[in-house]
Amino acid sequence: MDVLAGCMRGLYGLSIGESARENLATALAMAAAGRGLSRGECVELARRGDDQLLQTFVQAVTIHETYFFRHPEQFELLRAIAQERLRDSPRPSVIRALSAGCASGEEAYSLAIALLSAVQGTPSPPQIEVLGIDIDRPSIEKACGARYGRWAVRDLLPLWSQGSICGPDEAREVVEPYRGLVRFRSVNLHDPFLALLLGHQAPFDFIFCRNVLMYLVPTAITRVLRHLIGLLTPSGYLTFSPTDLQHIPKLFSRHPHDPTFLSRVRSATGGASAPGHPSPSSAEDRPVDSKPASAPADPLAENAHLGQMLANAKRLLDAGDLTRARAICSELLRWHPHVPAALYLAGLVEMESGRAWRAEKLLLEVLERQPDFALAHFVLSTLLKREGRNSEARARLVRLSHLLEGIPDETILAGPEEITCGWLRSVVNDHLNA
Ligand SMILES: C[S@@+](CC[C@H](N)C(=O)[O-])C[C@H]1O[C@@H](n2cnc3c(N)ncnc32)[C@H](O)[C@@H]1O
Repeated sequence: MDVLAGCMRGLYGLSIGESARENLATALAMAAAGRGLSRGECVELARRGDDQLLQTFVQAVTIHETYFFRHPEQFELLRAIAQERLRDSPRPSVIRALSAGCASGEEAYSLAIALLSAVQGTPSPPQIEVLGIDIDRPSIEKACGARYGRWAVRDLLPLWSQGSICGPDEAREVVEPYRGLVRFRSVNLHDPFLALLLGHQAPFDFIFCRNVLMYLVPTAITRVLRHLIGLLTPSGYLTFSPTDLQHIPKLFSRHPHDPTFLSRVRSATGGASAPGHPSPSSAEDRPVDSKPASAPADPLAENAHLGQMLANAKRLLDAGDLTRARAICSELLRWHPHVPAALYLAGLVEMESGRAWRAEKLLLEVLERQPDFALAHFVLSTLLKREGRNSEARARLVRLSHLLEGIPDETILAGPEEITCGWLRSVVNDHLNA
C-alpha cells in the first residue's frame, strides 16, 4: 500500500490520507482479483503506467463534488472583469478560461455562460474559449455529455444565465451556443509537461482551480501553482475557492474586491492593480529575441509564459523557422534553465540547426534531470546515429527499449507530441532489427 500511495503522490500529487488509503486498498484488492494477479503485481503494473489500473486508483481517491455557479460571487466578478476588458485598447479578440480540476464540468460551463453573457450584445464581441481538465476520465466523459441532474443546479441560477441550462429537473442540459464554447481533456495538473500539454490552448485570461489544492501534497501544490501561473496572460487571474487560500504563497496580488482572484502583477506601489487592469510586463510583450530586463523577484513569476514559449518554440520548429525557434529557446532557457521540456525543445532545435554538440549536451542534461524521458533517449540516439556513432546510438536504443518494457501500448509518453508507447516501441524495434 505504501508503494501504491507513493505512486499516486508521485504521479498526481495526491495526498493519500486515512480514508483515501482505505479506498485505495479496496480498489487494489478488487483490481487484483479481477485480473487474477497478486496485489504486488498490480501495484507494479500501475507504477509502470498501466492506464486502466491508474484510472481505477484515481477514481478511488478523488472527490468530484461540484455544481453550477459554486461561489456565485466569483462569477459576478469574472463578468465584471471581462466587461472591463472590453473597454481596453486594443480589445481582446478572444477570452480564454481554464477550469483546472473540472470534475464533471459544471465549473467549466459556468465559466462559459458567465463570459459569453458578459460580452454578448457588444459590437464584435471576443470569442470565448473554455477548457476543462481533470484526471478522472468518467468525470470528463460526463462533462462532455453536458447533461446533469437536479443536484448539479442546486442553487438559484443567476439571472444572466437564463436559457443556458434547459430541460426537466433530472435531465438538465447545457445548450448551444454555450456548450460549444467548452472543450474537455483528461490532463494531470501535476504532469511535469503541463505547460507543453496545454501550450496550444494557452495562455488563459482566467484559470479557476477551486477545491483541488486541498487534495494535493504541499510540493505538488507548489508545482501546480508554478505551472498555472505560467499559463496565464500577463493580466490574467488565477482563482481559488476561499478555503484554498491558506495553501497559496503570499507572492501574488489579490484583487481588491475579492482575495480569491490572484494575479501575478503588482502596481508601482506594490499593491494590487485596479480591477481588470494589471500593467502588462511579461515575456509575452517583449520581442522574442530580447532578454528579460532583470530576473523576476517572485520565483513563481519565473515560470511566466512557460507554456506559451514552449508552444511557440515547438510551432516554429515544426514550421522549420529555426532562427526564430532558437531565439525563443535561448529566452526559454534563460527563464527556465532546469525545465526538462525546455531543455528538450532547445535540444531538438539545436539538432535541426546542425549544432550536434550543443544538442547532445542539452539532451544529456534532460536525461540527467529526468532519466525516464523516453523521447529524449530516442532523439539522442537519432543524433548519435547521424554523427556516425552507431554503437552508442544502438546502446541508447537498447536502454530505451528496456525503459519501455511493461508500459502499456496506449500510454501517452511525456513530451510535446501525443506519442504512444506502442508506437515508439515499434519504431525502436525496427531500428534495432534493421
Ligand atoms: C472537488 S472537485 C472540484 C471541482 C470544481 N473545481 C469545483 O470547485 O466545483 C476536485 C477535482 O480535482 C480533480 N483532481 C485532483 N487532482 C488532480 C490532478 N492532479 N490533475 C487534475 N485534476 C485533479 C479530481 O479528479 C476532482 O474531479
